[in-house]
Amino acid sequence: MQEIRPSVTTQDIICEEVAAPPSALVVFGASGDLTRRKLLISLAQVFKRGLLDERFYLLGVGRKKLISKQFRQIAQQAIQENSSGISAKELKSFTDKLYYISGDYSDPLFYDSIKVKLAELDKKHKVDGSRIFYLAVPPFLYSTIVEQLGSAGLSCPGEPASRQRVRLVVEKPFGRDLQSAVELNRIIHRCFDESQVYRIDHYLGKETVQNILIFRFANAIFEPIWNRNYIDHVQITIAESIGVGHRASYYDKAGALRDMFQNHMLQMLALVAIELPTSFEADHIRDEKVKLLRSIRPFKLDELDSFIVRGQYGPGSINGKKVVGYRAEPGINPQSKAETFVAAKLFMDNWRWKGVPFYLRTGKRLARKDTEIAITFKKVPHSMFISAGLANMPPNVLVLQIQPEEGISLSFQAKRPGSKICMSTLDMNFNYQSVFGIEMPEAYQRLLLDCMVGDQTLFTRYDGVEIAWQLLTPVLEAWQNDEAAPYEYAAGSDSFAEADSLIEADGRKWRKL
Ligand code: BG6
Repeated sequence: MQEIRPSVTTQDIICEEVAAPPSALVVFGASGDLTRRKLLISLAQVFKRGLLDERFYLLGVGRKKLISKQFRQIAQQAIQENSSGISAKELKSFTDKLYYISGDYSDPLFYDSIKVKLAELDKKHKVDGSRIFYLAVPPFLYSTIVEQLGSAGLSCPGEPASRQRVRLVVEKPFGRDLQSAVELNRIIHRCFDESQVYRIDHYLGKETVQNILIFRFANAIFEPIWNRNYIDHVQITIAESIGVGHRASYYDKAGALRDMFQNHMLQMLALVAIELPTSFEADHIRDEKVKLLRSIRPFKLDELDSFIVRGQYGPGSINGKKVVGYRAEPGINPQSKAETFVAAKLFMDNWRWKGVPFYLRTGKRLARKDTEIAITFKKVPHSMFISAGLANMPPNVLVLQIQPEEGISLSFQAKRPGSKICMSTLDMNFNYQSVFGIEMPEAYQRLLLDCMVGDQTLFTRYDGVEIAWQLLTPVLEAWQNDEAAPYEYAAGSDSFAEADSLIEADGRKWRKL
């Protein structure tokens, strides 16, 4: 395959970032991994970019007994280790805005102390009571904290104006099946209005994922061919080379269907397949997503294996290094049936997509990290080059490369110079980094900012979450009742026979990782 590089002219449309208004961020789970690895680092970057109001402050809440000084030291270290280009002065100014309070999440008195602390800090930083409660805790604590915030009068669901001053951010996983998600939504809605709730799916904060809608709807040429008349099939892949890492206790109870498929995969699918929203408003986009998810054909339990299969990594090697199988990972049950790989074939029963298969796969410990959406168009209906021995020409493939090599490529046929009719498949490539010359910002920067400015577009709504669970809960139940374990694949491989059959039965192949 040859590669050409078009000269790209980017006509820059003036687009200034909206800075966050003054507010407090109250992070539950402040001594945990997510806060250290993602939130503090992203906030420091937002601060460095001048997008945090100078009155902003963060109150870390945790079970671990720390004082604010220790919390600031932890933050400083995490930011220094992971954030490039932040000066010592900027770091100090940022960490001076951090505070910490420790206590027991289920104790109502703790919430009284939080209330007092917030009043004191609001006064000190001249914040008017605008605050965001961020749940960066294990999911089993979500309902306890939400209920306690409600009982302490901190959730503020009253008048629309005062409501908008208080927001709640909930991390994924949001529930572990349909019933638990409905129950969690019910508890949240008792204390918060839906307009106050921001359910995070960090994939929606990735630049390349946000670009899907721009690509589709800010260009006139793609929409007319974006349907069953021109598209043969779509493949969506999230492949990771990492294993379960240090998240054994969470992951072994979750598995890939809950961890990646119910959220990241279905959200990307929705963006590729939704109808044109009326406008770029949060609810217009979310309405279309819900409509799309509702159109996905439910899995038939008597033919599950032809539509969805699960695998679990065995021992193997990644980049030439031997790695253990999933069951031998620290903290994993040696008989675990948790799936680390899911491949599925989905159909959308609607006018646009009827009959077009969407093949989705995600897995850990695969050959390499690669997230992409590949749209394969139909082949030419008739080859006029048969006499030149070219009866069967490859179809055009449009690849939205989500990560790590962010870009877009389109393959097409071209004549090789020379007197004979010879063709090559060429790729027209666009690479974010070389065109825009910047490192892609971490998804959490966008999401935290959006939450502070009150834009819910990139957050999932309660009905979207429930519909996704409605589709997958029967599968989870069927797998749970199945004596058989997931199929084993060698760590470092691309796939395994049963996942291959799912697509090969239709005369197609997975794209090479
Ligand atoms: C998380 C999952 O939501 O996404 C992890 O819980 C996964 O298991 C991670 O590794 C992948 O995110 P990214 O941004 O590295 O693709």
